[in-house]
Amino acid sequence: MAAGAAVIWLIVIGISVYVTKVRPGAHGERAGLRMIVWGGCIFPVVVLGALLMHGLTMMPGLRAAADGPVIAVSGERFWWRVNYGVEGTPGVAKALPQGGVESANELYLPIGRRSEILIGSPDVIHSFWVPSIAGKMDAIPGRVNRLVMEPTRLGVYNGVCAEFCGEAHAQMGFRVVVVSETDYAARVAAEAQPAAILDHPGRSLFMANGCDACHAVRGTGASGRVGPDLTHLGSRKTLGAGLLPVTAENISRFVRETDHTKPGVEMPAFSTLSEADAAAIAAWLGDLR
Ligand code: CUA
Repeated sequence: MAAGAAVIWLIVIGISVYVTKVRPGAHGERAGLRMIVWGGCIFPVVVLGALLMHGLTMMPGLRAAADGPVIAVSGERFWWRVNYGVEGTPGVAKALPQGGVESANELYLPIGRRSEILIGSPDVIHSFWVPSIAGKMDAIPGRVNRLVMEPTRLGVYNGVCAEFCGEAHAQMGFRVVVVSETDYAARVAAEAQPAAILDHPGRSLFMANGCDACHAVRGTGASGRVGPDLTHLGSRKTLGAGLLPVTAENISRFVRETDHTKPGVEMPAFSTLSEADAAAIAAWLGDLR
């Protein structure tokens, strides 16, 4: 298309230079009219019609049936809720399916499989985009959109929110990790496990300070659904939806200076928490792999 557009551009520029500089006034009104009809009406209709036909023939591939896992992804303010192992709901469903294994801001995909991503949102419109693997798909409240992703190379890919959704729109990244089918199954099985460490002072502080009202840590009694599931936070690549590496220091900072770390975040800053308490909570969460 770029080559075709360049050729057409050269022809148009060439003609305009010819009639204005080289031989101005050499052609009558009839010749000009013929030029407009052929060059301005018929030629663009034929070229654009051919491109449209070509584009339409490519569409069935984009809508191809999935042969991999079904994963639900919900655009939240301002992070991504990920649900592995849900049942697919083809067509225009109103709500994302529930009941899978929950994670956040990270999506594992098996290589060479057409995974079906069901995309929704509880409140505002986001757009789910992993430029290296597939096109964008909007996350629209009251509707479930479907995107088939077929990664062909192993690796870690960056994803972003591509629709302005509020203050922290630009801090709403995620990672897509493409692994072998065996590793994918192992990863989802690991995600399904309850938290690895239950006996820890950080756990008591987590519960005592009310973190469990918004966050779930499976196996501990913390079952909040407002914020990201933290059951395996330590195994994730990023904290705060693509913002920081997951280290105890970063978690502690995120807890006490949430609004400075991620302006616009919905979570309140726990600035009244002592540094020692925040460090204990962070140490526990950071070790949950
Ligand atoms: Cu979510 Cu922009």
